[in-house]
Amino acid sequence: MEIQQNIPLKPYNTFGIQANAKRFVTVNSVKELKEIIASEKYLFLLGGGSNILLTKDVEKLVIHLNTKGIIVNDFDEDEVLVTAEAGENWHELVLWCVSQNYGGLENLALIPGNVGTSPIQNIGAYGVEIKDVFQQLEAIDIETGKTKIFTSADCGFGYRNSVFKNELKGKFIIVSVTFKLTKKNHNINISYGAIKDLLTEKENPSIKEIADAVIAIRQSKLPDPKEIGNSGSFFKNPVITSNLFQELIKKYPEIPHYIISENEIKIPAGWLIEQCGFKGKRFGDAGVHEKQALVLVNYSNASGKEIYALAQKIQQKVLEIFKISLEIEVNII
Ligand code: EPU
Repeated sequence: MEIQQNIPLKPYNTFGIQANAKRFVTVNSVKELKEIIASEKYLFLLGGGSNILLTKDVEKLVIHLNTKGIIVNDFDEDEVLVTAEAGENWHELVLWCVSQNYGGLENLALIPGNVGTSPIQNIGAYGVEIKDVFQQLEAIDIETGKTKIFTSADCGFGYRNSVFKNELKGKFIIVSVTFKLTKKNHNINISYGAIKDLLTEKENPSIKEIADAVIAIRQSKLPDPKEIGNSGSFFKNPVITSNLFQELIKKYPEIPHYIISENEIKIPAGWLIEQCGFKGKRFGDAGVHEKQALVLVNYSNASGKEIYALAQKIQQKVLEIFKISLEIEVNII
């Protein structure tokens, strides 16, 4: 393993932000990862770079985890366990499972990033979250170098959340994730409005047809990081109290919402940001996507600080108008 000096990180983050890694190493096996953990103290793990905003150079040793491999454990007639190494590209894993007619990940097609970082924020889209198909993951304890298995309960999954974003933040490196997928009697989920609309003609859509519908919807709404730098949803959808909701619905009868419980209502942040007039707005090279206000974009040379300043401006305005604080979903570095 060669530790390189002053490496530009622009190709390694989907926002396409330029910042340097003082020291950078590509790791191709768990054995190599353990060697690095044993010899270095301050580490910064880089997965697919799809959920970070770099606002400065990284002083810690940047580990580019590039471990590859998919193992199938065909343990019974109906289900299969698929284990993927952390460095596998998420969308390629989804496409591979779809090609095998393994059901469970199809609604999560085209989400940028790698397998290893997917459980950290319990990635989700179109009615499905990773936790719905999660079996277990293997992670290395940075302090001891030992391997630990995490079950779903150990991961403490929540909406775009897990223990790896909270009490275990920075303490473990996920090296592989195992999913329990279906081989037949697929338990497909087409409840999400936009998917239902695209599949109206189909009686029993196949796994491939659902993945194709998800890909078409995402391509029509969300910017491709290869064309315009972005990190998907920049904010979480906020959950508000029913009192505040009652106040808001009087003023905005059309406000989209999802009832979570008697006193918890989730409001799409994209709608709030659009109401504040930010949708499609551009400030230098930093902007708010024209088709989905939840996504902040880098048109080419925005700095992380400029994107962050825009995010703060949006948070202030939404707070002022709606009395709602938007929580940032992306990791600010
Ligand atoms: N909306 C607006 N204006 C906008 C965007 C959305 O009014 O600019 C309204 C829509 O009309 C709709 C509602 O907000 O009534 C919800 O919009 P959408 O279905 O696009 O979903 P979302 O809540 O904005 C979430 C996820 C996405 C995921 C989609 C589909 C979060 C933070 N985001 O977005 O996840 O793809 O649902 O399931 O939960 C991501 O995490 O990176 C991501 C893209």
